Amino acid sequence: MNPQKIYILGIESSCDDTSAAILCNGKVLSNVVASQKIHEQYGGVVPELASRAHQQNIVPVIDQAIKQAGINKKDLSAIAFTQGPGLMGSLLVGTSFAKSLALALDIPLIDVNHMQAHILAHFIEEDDFDKPEFPFLAMTISGGHTQIVKVTDHFDMEVIGETIDDAVGEAFDKSAKILGLPYPGGPLIDQYAQLGNPKAFPFPKPKVGDLNFSFSGLKTAVLYFIQKMVKENPDFIEENRDDICASLQYTIINILIDKLKKASKQTGIKRIAIGGGVSANSGIRKALKEGEHKYGWETFVPKFEYTTDNAAMIGIVGHLKFLKEDFTDMNVVAKARIKF
Ligand code: KG4
Ligand code: ZN
Repeated sequence: MNPQKIYILGIESSCDDTSAAILCNGKVLSNVVASQKIHEQYGGVVPELASRAHQQNIVPVIDQAIKQAGINKKDLSAIAFTQGPGLMGSLLVGTSFAKSLALALDIPLIDVNHMQAHILAHFIEEDDFDKPEFPFLAMTISGGHTQIVKVTDHFDMEVIGETIDDAVGEAFDKSAKILGLPYPGGPLIDQYAQLGNPKAFPFPKPKVGDLNFSFSGLKTAVLYFIQKMVKENPDFIEENRDDICASLQYTIINILIDKLKKASKQTGIKRIAIGGGVSANSGIRKALKEGEHKYGWETFVPKFEYTTDNAAMIGIVGHLKFLKEDFTDMNVVAKARIKF
């Protein structure tokens, strides 16, 4: 099976973003994302509300993706969807829709691992972006995951380190909540951090062995620190917001970079790619660039719109699996947890 033009519809619905993308031969023609604002008022994603919002959004989002791409749904070669990991109620919406549409159009169905997709987003065909050569190390940093993965080929990946408790995005979001910032607080911490002194308040770094991470202690340290300071000065947060955010971000980035240094040393691999929502963070992007001079790394950061959850990354995995004719059958089910 090798038609000249391979059109893939990618569907992402693992958490709180409903997204659909059309790719032609690995190039993105459209990538529509409907983010769910409803969760802001609850300070985190409410699974029940997320699945309902996906149900509302999925048809208009897919419709818009097809229209924006300027194609007809009959042109589609295959449909790729996020099978997991993620919230079950959310995954079920995308999975069921993908199955039904593939059945109606009589085209292949392709299951995609969301975490693999964050890594393979680097293989989206883009004019100004280089793709990493194999092998490389990928650090996936998001609201749900924190992993270092050794990538030997598109579908040959090994997790060599991961968080033993909270994900790094949770460390950002939960600390932001303590500071009274709305959800998701990661981008806001990033914004304030750029105005503050990163060495103003030293936060402790966790002592976790190997290449693993731990972020729950940091969140607790932030909580106790803020409670203590607010007792002494009720305006402490307002008066020091930029410095608190800068110090927190500095600590988190140090934790991430230290483990990357260790992973690079252990594996002898100097090609380093990042993916996942937290890779949008300006501090980690800067620290990674500095690693090129300091440690001789070659670094890869995806285009901004392919860092947070999006369907273009699902589409590129779909494209790569389509080339291998790696299709799934109609009794496939969504999985809240999947390993590589
Ligand atoms: O990949 P993603 O969109 O969803 C998950 O699969 O989790 O990641 C969302 C996470 C949130 O925790 C959000 O606060 C964080 O990425 N994030 C950031 C930034 N932009 C998004 N964290 C720090 N700095 C940013 N600029
Ligand atoms: Zn994600």
